[in-house]
Amino acid sequence: MATTRLKTTQSEEIFAAAQKLMPGGVSSPVRAFKSVGGQPIVFDRVLGAYIWDVDGNQYTDYVGSWGPAICGHAHPEVIAALHDALEKGTSFGAPCYLENVLAQMVIDAVPSIEMVRFVNSGTEACMAVLRLMRAFTGREKAIKFEGCYHGHADMFLVKAGSGIATLGLPDSPGVPKSVTSNTLTAPFNDLEAVKVLFEQNPNEIAGVILEPVVGNAGFIPPDAGFLEGLRKLTQEHGALLVFDEVMTGFRIAYGGVQEKFGVIPDLTTLGKVIGGGLPVGAYGGRQEIMSMVAPAGNVYQAGTLSGNPLAMTAGIKTLELLQRPGTYEHLDRITKRLTEGMLEIAKETGHAACGGQISGMFGFFFNEGPVRNYEDAKKSDLSKFARFHRGMLEHGVYLAPSQFEAGFTSLAHTEADIDRTLEAARTVMSQ
Ligand SMILES: Cc1ncc(COP(=O)(O)O)c(C=O)c1O
Repeated sequence: MATTRLKTTQSEEIFAAAQKLMPGGVSSPVRAFKSVGGQPIVFDRVLGAYIWDVDGNQYTDYVGSWGPAICGHAHPEVIAALHDALEKGTSFGAPCYLENVLAQMVIDAVPSIEMVRFVNSGTEACMAVLRLMRAFTGREKAIKFEGCYHGHADMFLVKAGSGIATLGLPDSPGVPKSVTSNTLTAPFNDLEAVKVLFEQNPNEIAGVILEPVVGNAGFIPPDAGFLEGLRKLTQEHGALLVFDEVMTGFRIAYGGVQEKFGVIPDLTTLGKVIGGGLPVGAYGGRQEIMSMVAPAGNVYQAGTLSGNPLAMTAGIKTLELLQRPGTYEHLDRITKRLTEGMLEIAKETGHAACGGQISGMFGFFFNEGPVRNYEDAKKSDLSKFARFHRGMLEHGVYLAPSQFEAGFTSLAHTEADIDRTLEAARTVMSQ
């Protein structure tokens, strides 16, 4: 990797110390920049569309804490609400009215959700939804798609995207075969493959779980008819359809992919945006299914900090901000300007590239395209992406440090931010 022209002395010092204290120096793998190489940036503070590192460099941020920062970092109204909530204490471990408020907002927004359970992360939500799928159907197998990431629970660590793709691990040691033998996989956007799996495993498949717009293998939207086809197939085979909207919920549209595409799953998982930057996940669906969850039913799932008052407060204020007029139009407009601009510049400077966006979620690949699934995504020029990533950092733009991650914009990003980013991209791609 070319040596950076950024001043990163403090980042280097802190990261070197971190590596002796925590595996790889991080609390989550992708942050270590393994797939792009070079020095990871250690953050000091965030505000609006920007981040500042410990050496004082400023960047326009397109990671947004991996999705939650949809209103912009440290939105003053979220911070003010958190200050008020803090005065009342940090954790109750008992029912709290704020849970009702956020639950009602989620139920009103997400078409498939009639009842919801709050947890602390997307991983937890996906683990719990899997248990519920199995309990409801009395079946043990589940279908997931190659390149889709549903958190780090054993059962999902099969052909998962995100950090697994980034590190090139097809799977993880420590995951028993007996657990993953119930995980069936198919290529994304391949209905025929799903059909075959149902035929080969009659009355054994509890359900199909997917990122209805993929973000963890890079940004990959569903082909026309794919989500509808899955809805039909699951219904025909007595299986449940689960949309993992941890990334897409309240981002692709206020009601998520299910609102945008009009395909309603049986169960939905959420995370990221609904916590407004604090740790929250959730799963929900039809009352008949959700009533099986303890203590209403006997499907066990619990959490010491679940429904935490600070996390509920940040979530409520974030959703309130998103309800204001013009929010999704703004996200769509600036993100389209960004992706169209990037592709145009790639073309002008002679780089094969493809990509797209919906609302404030986007991605592009150094790849002729089209990219319809993870196999296609893997054909991208990863070393070119790594050089591009480093070049953009040097020009004050923080992109996800992997070709296999979607990017995010926020309400705080302006057209001027996008134009500066495009200018940087032109300089970097011309080099
Ligand atoms: C679609 C999807 N599901 C689940 C998860 C896991 O969520 P968490 O990292 O909060 O455990 C993620 C995280 O990126 C995700 O993108």
